[in-house]
Amino acid sequence: MKYLAVLGRLPKLSIAELESLFSEVEPRFTKTLPALATFVSPENPDINRLGGTQKLAVELPDGFNYLIDSLADLPDGKITLGISDFRAHTNARKAGGEALKIKKILQRRGRSVRVLENKTAVLSTATSHHNQLAEKPNHVEIIMTDFGNFKLTGVQNITKYAKRDQARPARDAKVGMLPPKLAQILINLCGDLPKNATVLDPFCGTGVVLQEAHLMGYKPYGADLEPRMIEYSKKNLDWLGCDNYTLEPGDATSHTWQHFDAIAAEAFLGSPMSQPPVEIKLKQEKMRCREIVLGFLKNLASQTASKTPVVIAVPAWLRENGTYSRLNLLDEVEKLGYNVKKFINVGPDDLLYYREGQIVARDIIVLRKK
Ligand SMILES: C[S@@+](CC[C@H](N)C(=O)[O-])C[C@H]1O[C@@H](n2cnc3c(N)ncnc32)[C@H](O)[C@@H]1O
Repeated sequence: MKYLAVLGRLPKLSIAELESLFSEVEPRFTKTLPALATFVSPENPDINRLGGTQKLAVELPDGFNYLIDSLADLPDGKITLGISDFRAHTNARKAGGEALKIKKILQRRGRSVRVLENKTAVLSTATSHHNQLAEKPNHVEIIMTDFGNFKLTGVQNITKYAKRDQARPARDAKVGMLPPKLAQILINLCGDLPKNATVLDPFCGTGVVLQEAHLMGYKPYGADLEPRMIEYSKKNLDWLGCDNYTLEPGDATSHTWQHFDAIAAEAFLGSPMSQPPVEIKLKQEKMRCREIVLGFLKNLASQTASKTPVVIAVPAWLRENGTYSRLNLLDEVEKLGYNVKKFINVGPDDLLYYREGQIVARDIIVLRKK
């Protein structure tokens, strides 16, 4: 089946995530944001496992009549209808007009319909989520594009993400706050892992990657230089009700880990910063981080089976001129025994995660052991 993904804030990262899991991924750039992509999957993908996709929808067969028939055939009761319109030359008024047109036809066929107001051409994730447009059988969202109509099958549960991020018992502002969605992306960039695969985070900190690995059905395995962080990760995993995990203190540049199937980690990011660093400070930070990341990859290489996925977020620093200063590790990691994963629609330098106002961004490196 063909699916449509309404992508997250950083579409290149989202596309790399989709390419890691599905086939025939095609970016579909339209004038209306957010960016879109289509892909093929034999099963209905679970939106709760995709950090980079805001909404998922399945392709409807061609034609307006089919669309009307499929809505008229919904179970008895009032229909709640939302329209998101990505077609060229559209706007909120035109999208709202489509919704009213469909409402009238359905009324003539004896159905009662509540139409969600289009404040914009595309309904926000919050609107789709709060109106349960992918959950209740009579609540629907149709996504119109110039390449066909799609019916919503899933929308990101922003309430659950916020809870996982903010309500976990052990937090530490100093080690940074890896957003759960980014943790999911790191895990998914490892590819389609077998159920119960062990996901190792050798820089686990407070355990965001471990939490998400558990929720995705994998076995979390965390290590960190600081015993205090191991305690934090333990508290957070216990809070989630996870009872099958491994945690141990260890220096990633020298530790010997037990069995693991994939590595997903946010490595040491250097000192927190509120302003772009001056050149000398930047040089020092880069040296410190480079040493830890390369030391880790060197130590890992001798312990890792061929083809094992290794996905790590490393720091990149915003400069005064608005560009990012990166560690540029790709040549060196090849020499250490890893292949840099190639994506079809995304280059290896495209995988940068940043937020406005943040100085330390995350540069995501996707590797496979040779
Ligand atoms: C950016 S934080 C990771 C935060 C984590 N993603 C979380 O959910 O809290 C980096 C972590 O790496 C740890 N660390 C720094 N150097 C290390 C080393 N050589 N070996 C293992 N862990 C290290 C730090 O203690 C810190 O917890």
